[in-house]
Amino acid sequence: MPELSRRASELGTENAFVVLGEVAELQAQGREIISFCIGQPDFPTPEHIAQAGIRAIQEGHHGYTPSPGIQPLREAVAKYFSRTRRIDVGTDEVVCGCGGKPFIGYTILSVTDYGEGHEVIYPNPGFPIYQSQIVANGAVPVPLHLREGKGFVFDLDDLRSKLTDKTRLLILCSPQNPTGSVISRSDLEELAGILADYPDVWVYSDEVYSGLVYDGPFESIAAVDGMRERTIIADTASKTYAMTGWRIGYAANKALAPSFTRWVTNTDSCPPHPNQWAVVEALNGPQDASDKMRDVFQERRGRIVDGLNAIDGITCQMPGGAFYVWPNVTEACKMIGVADSEELRKRLLHEAGVAVLADIHFGTRVEGDGEHVRFSYASSFEDIDNGLAKIDDFIRKNTK
Ligand SMILES: Cc1ncc(COP(=O)(O)O)c(C=O)c1O
Repeated sequence: MPELSRRASELGTENAFVVLGEVAELQAQGREIISFCIGQPDFPTPEHIAQAGIRAIQEGHHGYTPSPGIQPLREAVAKYFSRTRRIDVGTDEVVCGCGGKPFIGYTILSVTDYGEGHEVIYPNPGFPIYQSQIVANGAVPVPLHLREGKGFVFDLDDLRSKLTDKTRLLILCSPQNPTGSVISRSDLEELAGILADYPDVWVYSDEVYSGLVYDGPFESIAAVDGMRERTIIADTASKTYAMTGWRIGYAANKALAPSFTRWVTNTDSCPPHPNQWAVVEALNGPQDASDKMRDVFQERRGRIVDGLNAIDGITCQMPGGAFYVWPNVTEACKMIGVADSEELRKRLLHEAGVAVLADIHFGTRVEGDGEHVRFSYASSFEDIDNGLAKIDDFIRKNTK
């Protein structure tokens, strides 16, 4: 049997999908599981957006499109970026792809060379695809730890210590997956000051949760003085408009747009054609449905944070965005005598019927910061209440 490449055998993944498989297996055996695993809105795509997609199919918009997307979509994205980031983004800067995710790989491929020791700094805990794409594309992963004491935002001195003459890319994510943390405008400004000494460093600003900020306006590093040209703004229709399966995302950067376009041509040819028309409607049409979803998420955020803090052994900070919470479960692990968050996660799944993800699914555990798990609150109030009651009950019954 011929062998696989080392790249293929070592390729990382999103372990959320592995846990989802475990959940599905238990459900198939008839077990009732309340799942807080999935990172997607539990709302249907708003009707006017879905209808625009249906219309596009009926009107024959089924063929290939230009790789960076149809012109009306690129224009709609440019307007959307300009409006929500309070900067002036041109249509020629925008490239659309099959979701926000592909732009992570396209960027690493566009700004680092394989095996040259080019370093990419990325948040840990963080979206696991950053690390897997850095490694698969032959760059050097440099994790930047997010600590609980700093509200899960990186320490600027820590960042300073990680920048070298080999650094080519800094990945930022705000609001963040998995912690829900938001980087403040003042931190972004200070960060821009630090990067002024490193002109070779690009910034990939993963803004896929930009539509889910609860305590103020969304702030992009692209809007900070000196950062516009070197920042790749990446966003998606997935989270803001409940369109994860439609697979439309977009990125903007003037210098990299031609390169992104080539990567799209080399991989998917173009994003799905009818779906592009649906996203034109999402971005240009009424925003009430997505505003309403955000309001519901905000209410759920309060409910789940209060509920978690009421459980013995668990403490949870109030995150500023996305639909995730990242409670500290160190004490709960000690109380019931499990080794770590992963063992706790397994017992919660099998014994309490509640599915969450563990910190190790999002990178390496941050030394000195204890054990964490991730809840997605893209689930109903009823599931939040029942799921937390089951966890409370499980901890009470198993406390030694
Ligand atoms: C931080 C982050 N970036 C990118 C993505 C991918 O978004 P999309 O589904 O649009 O590809 C996700 C999805 O969970 C995410 O959490």
